[in-house]
Amino acid sequence: MKVAIAITGASGGIYARRLIEQLMTDEILLTMSPDGLDVLKFEEKIPGTIEKFDPAVLNPKSPVRYFHYKDYFAPIASGSNDYAGLVIVPCSMNTLGKIASGISDNLIVRAADTMLKERKTLILVTRETPYNLIHIENMATVTRAGAVVLPASPAFYHHPKTISDAVDFVVNKIIRLLGLPSILPDWGKRKKGSF
Ligand SMILES: Cc1cc2nc3c(=O)[nH]c(=O)nc-3n(C[C@H](O)[C@H](O)[C@H](O)COP(=O)(O)O)c2cc1C
Repeated sequence: MKVAIAITGASGGIYARRLIEQLMTDEILLTMSPDGLDVLKFEEKIPGTIEKFDPAVLNPKSPVRYFHYKDYFAPIASGSNDYAGLVIVPCSMNTLGKIASGISDNLIVRAADTMLKERKTLILVTRETPYNLIHIENMATVTRAGAVVLPASPAFYHHPKTISDAVDFVVNKIIRLLGLPSILPDWGKRKKGSF
């Protein structure tokens, strides 16, 4: 199984990093917007440029292939790709708005458009607070078109003790939606009083 991940310029590159660590797939295709890389570097303190990004800085063990955000020769730019889904994590309001409007002027939004037209899995891990009406209407539009809006909203009923625990709650939701086994115990399968 192959999965594509795109990082855009919202806060929360840590979710993408952890997803890459946890995805047990044959291949991960990674792309990111220039603002995505800027915010990722700011928050995660990693090196790299958009022209030459080494995905090993996110996790050296994962089978990641990096593609430039303007490379329309990347497999996910075409409907004939064999990727099970695209996860945009984190997803900025800018990228959400482009997808909702049918704009395809970079690999990320072109790949999103492709996933929707092929009726394949598109997960948008949106991050903004509060939302304005434009954001909410854009989320409704992409949901009607077949995307899943999965806001980066950790819960607290599993009693997270660290930031990583809170991050894993969101990452687990993504992994489940891709049809892969949970990285956290499912609700109802845990011991009473614990997660
Ligand atoms: C440190 C930082 C944090 C940001 N966080 C968010 C955010 O959480 N959500 C959002 O929609 N935009 C956020 N932005 C603004 C986006 O980066 C900006 O709108 C950008 O144009 C998004 O471009 P992209 O969609 O091509 O990545 C942030 C910018 C910076 C510098």
